[in-house]
Amino acid sequence: MDAADTVLTIPDFCLVLLVGASGAGKSTFAARHFRPTEIVSSDTCRALVSDDEADQSASAAAFELVHMITGKRLAARRLTVIDATNLKVRDRKPLLALARRFHAPVVTFAFLLDAATCVARNRERGARGGRDVGVEVVTMQQTELRKGMPGLRRIGNFTAFETGAAVDRITEIRRVPS
Ligand code: CTP
Ligand code: MG
Repeated sequence: MDAADTVLTIPDFCLVLLVGASGAGKSTFAARHFRPTEIVSSDTCRALVSDDEADQSASAAAFELVHMITGKRLAARRLTVIDATNLKVRDRKPLLALARRFHAPVVTFAFLLDAATCVARNRERGARGGRDVGVEVVTMQQTELRKGMPGLRRIGNFTAFETGAAVDRITEIRRVPS
């Protein structure tokens, strides 16, 4: 194995919380390391209820779906990845309650990439026809993220990625029997 490679270990049954601003690379990371059916994405749920993954007015309905699917999966002891910004305590609270209810360990990956990178990636995504939430939203999200860090570090099995390079060093997420 290359010295730069990093293998992470997680329980084979757990709730994985991805936390980070828009453009930080949460969905890219999820797609690289988890099966499509393991990923519960707030954007996908927005699209399911409104045909538009960017429609913020669909958020309440979308998160009802996120929570429902997560509950069903955890009840069936299926590893579940929450692909949403998960920045606020009130965003995380219902998910942590589900994990407790179904005795699922919580694994948190926090994407602490700098705002300029997140903004640039949004812009590039926008140029390719995808979403670009813009600099104001990313700045607000970064503030929220920094504010929440002390609380976040206390949640379960916690890993922080400070840079895109740190994310890219993860070559494998190995699952061990829980
Ligand atoms: N990206 C990149 N290099 C990476 C990771 C992501 O260039 N190592 C690009 C992706 O291709 C995408 C953009 O950056 O166009 C944002 O990545 P994404 O995974 O979509 O970020 P999310 O954190 O999921 O953003 P959002 O909260 O808006 O869904
Ligand atoms: Mg995403």
